Amino acid sequence: MPAGVPWPSSAERTSSGEISVGGIGVTDLAAQVGTPVYLLDEGDMRARARRIREAFVDAASRVGSHAEVYYAGKAFLSRAVARWMVAEGLRIDTASLGELTTALEAGVEGALIGLHGNNKSDEEIDLALARGVGRIVVDSRGEVDRVARAAAAAGVVAPVMLRVTTGVHAGGHEFISTAHEDQKFGLSIHAPDGGTSPAVDALEAILQRPELHLIGIHSHIGSQILDAAGFTAAAGALVRLRAHLEERTGHLVGELDLGGGIGVPYLPEDIEPDVAAFARAIVDAVAQACRETDTPVPHLSFEPGRAIAAPAGVTLYTVGTVKDVRLEDGGHRRYVAVDGGMGDHIRTALYGASYHAELVSRTSDAGPVLSRIVGKHCESGDIVVRDVMLPGDVVSGDLVAVAATGAYGRSMASTYNLVPRPGVVAVREGTATTIVRRENVADLLALDVG
Ligand code: LLP
Repeated sequence: MPAGVPWPSSAERTSSGEISVGGIGVTDLAAQVGTPVYLLDEGDMRARARRIREAFVDAASRVGSHAEVYYAGKAFLSRAVARWMVAEGLRIDTASLGELTTALEAGVEGALIGLHGNNKSDEEIDLALARGVGRIVVDSRGEVDRVARAAAAAGVVAPVMLRVTTGVHAGGHEFISTAHEDQKFGLSIHAPDGGTSPAVDALEAILQRPELHLIGIHSHIGSQILDAAGFTAAAGALVRLRAHLEERTGHLVGELDLGGGIGVPYLPEDIEPDVAAFARAIVDAVAQACRETDTPVPHLSFEPGRAIAAPAGVTLYTVGTVKDVRLEDGGHRRYVAVDGGMGDHIRTALYGASYHAELVSRTSDAGPVLSRIVGKHCESGDIVVRDVMLPGDVVSGDLVAVAATGAYGRSMASTYNLVPRPGVVAVREGTATTIVRRENVADLLALDVG
């Protein structure tokens, strides 16, 4: 029964046997808003944001420092979500014109927004400068000059951080591990023999430009990380880089940003990382490296996305075709096809990610059958949940929910096969509020101008 990991905190079985989320039964929800739909437990998401922020603020205050937490909008951003995050004391991390504009349109002050991107457009940089974005995270040597020129043209001094790679590699999948050297993000802190590292070279270039104010150094080591060791290694490397820069230039960088990446449980047997312990381990590693380098503890910032959004979301689907397929070994596999698929849920196909799902519209005494939840797209890789035990009597019309889809679900959705993307509905204390409306075929045709 959906209670505990990996379901949102408000999920529970009602007396009628169905599951409710945010105080509303899934049958009512399906009738009101249709399926497929992404449900977001607002109370859960906000509580996670609050807990994570408190964990980092408390850990930092124990070493006489201060921490800010930026919600990584790439996990899932809408105007409502941006407002929730700011109301919980977080800031917003953006990585595109769309995310930046969404945060601004939500009424988030520019100073509370960060802008990332390894290949920022002029439009992104200009908008960030015009709206007084609090930090532009510079990702290449060429961007130092581009941001400086844009700042000069706008008549402002741009607050910048430099994104560096420490060689620390952590996280769930090669595509989402970002701080090893052979990839597109940031600048390496490692110097070639007898030379200066690309990171130090860019940091010194920033310090020489009066149009730029170097506010910090940034590192993001990967995503879906379940062990703090990668973060503590990166933290030490950043502190040493900061000390080295001070020796060379006399400039002591004020802030270190350790990025996002805290992992979440996707399956009932997964363990939820203890965020407070994570925060203490990272902050203690910073403090320790500061003692070793005889430098003051910097301000700290963090950019979690998944750990705030993923567990608060579930995707609700209606079952259509149920098909048993005979396997070569003589066994059967049950294919349970739902009314969405890889268009709204790409992580299984893209990363081989594992998910948990349950029958949520009723109870069943039927024995469990190993099932595969698939979608309605025209490709056999269209798998939502590769292996899950579902009751043997699941039939067309039943509702199934897939857990922990709040991050990188809607934000990575596509319209493959011209299937419109589901909407996002926030549920809280018995009220369902559509925060992103369901797309329809007319929306898709509106783009088709030819
Ligand atoms: N900060 C930066 C600079 C990032 O690149 C990312 C994620 C984050 C923060 C947030 O990381 P989180 O706390 O959510 O792990 N699409 C992939 C995840 C890609 C993450 C990319 N960067 C997935 O579905 O697993």
